[in-house]
Amino acid sequence: MSPDVYARTMPEPLVDRFARVHRDLRVSLTDRCSLRCTYCMPEQGNEWLARQSILTVDEIVEVATVAAAAGVTTFRLTGGEPLLRTDIVDIVRRLSALRAPSGPAQIAMTTNGIRLPDVLPDLVAAGLKRLNISLDTIDRDRFARLTRRDRLSDVLDGVRAARDSGLRPLKINAVAMRGVNDDELADLVAFAVANDAEMRFIEQMPLDAGHTWDRSTMVTREEILEALSQRWELAPVPGRGGAPAEQWRLDGGPHVVGVIASVTAPFCGACDRMRLTADGQLRNCLFSNDEYDLLPVLRSGEPGPDRSDEIDRVLRNCVAGKRAGHAIDDPGFLQPARGMNAIGG
Ligand code: 5AD
Ligand code: SF4
Repeated sequence: MSPDVYARTMPEPLVDRFARVHRDLRVSLTDRCSLRCTYCMPEQGNEWLARQSILTVDEIVEVATVAAAAGVTTFRLTGGEPLLRTDIVDIVRRLSALRAPSGPAQIAMTTNGIRLPDVLPDLVAAGLKRLNISLDTIDRDRFARLTRRDRLSDVLDGVRAARDSGLRPLKINAVAMRGVNDDELADLVAFAVANDAEMRFIEQMPLDAGHTWDRSTMVTREEILEALSQRWELAPVPGRGGAPAEQWRLDGGPHVVGVIASVTAPFCGACDRMRLTADGQLRNCLFSNDEYDLLPVLRSGEPGPDRSDEIDRVLRNCVAGKRAGHAIDDPGFLQPARGMNAIGG
């Protein structure tokens, strides 16, 4: 085999300057959402991404195909709210058909749950493997205040649909927030257990549109564990690997709870993730202020080996530019210009 052919069929994995191998691509499908979580979007005046810049299914699959060839095995679909894409089943079906050198692609999704009762059976048939539902409170008034929409019952229907779908492990994610849901953490865990799901708490990160984040008022991993240990005996689950969540077993039983301590115990050293925004920008970190634009590549010429090489080059540039960590604590830290809804969780 000539070196040229070899390069195309067996590309090098995506390794950065710190020897981190990138195997996970988070794909934001839209910046639109059916909710308006206060920590994610402003009430009004959000500047939406231009419609014509949003990647089509073909464009997403084109990028993902090159990424898979370079060793990306997990594609996590995010938003905004990914289920607002009318072509979501098609996207899942086509991504599920991809293969990395090490095996078939795994398709996961992070959703607010609202459209799950309508589409989950089709998503599972299309090959969806894992589901994370974002739910910060199970109190109706709080939910309405936090998300600016009175739609808790729709999300609960979504959780039930997920429970009944048999997709496991099913995860429910909550951002822990002082004065908002910090008195409800154990109730959320009990709710998750009742739905055969794993509750995961996320330390709040400085990503909110209002720039109101303050480290001194943030609910920490320690506080979360302290609150939960009032109700359960927590035993650490060993073998976290590169996963963002640390896990604890509840009362020695089958159920676990997870904590994602992005701020007080960052896991950047094991990060294997990259992001693709809905408008075709590759990012190597949630907190990066650099973007690597794939749109001009995807929208010139024809799909084919040359364009795949070009996409591969942009992927590698993005990985090569990755920093050691998010540096939230550095004096010069700058919150990314995009809101979380336009980056993808
Ligand atoms: N800090 C931590 N997690 C956040 N999310 C959104 N904004 C933040 C933030 N500032 C979470 C959502 C959802 C996922 C997409 O990202 O709650 O679970
Ligand atoms: Fe929508 Fe998720 Fe942002 Fe809430 S956090 S507004 S559910 S994208």
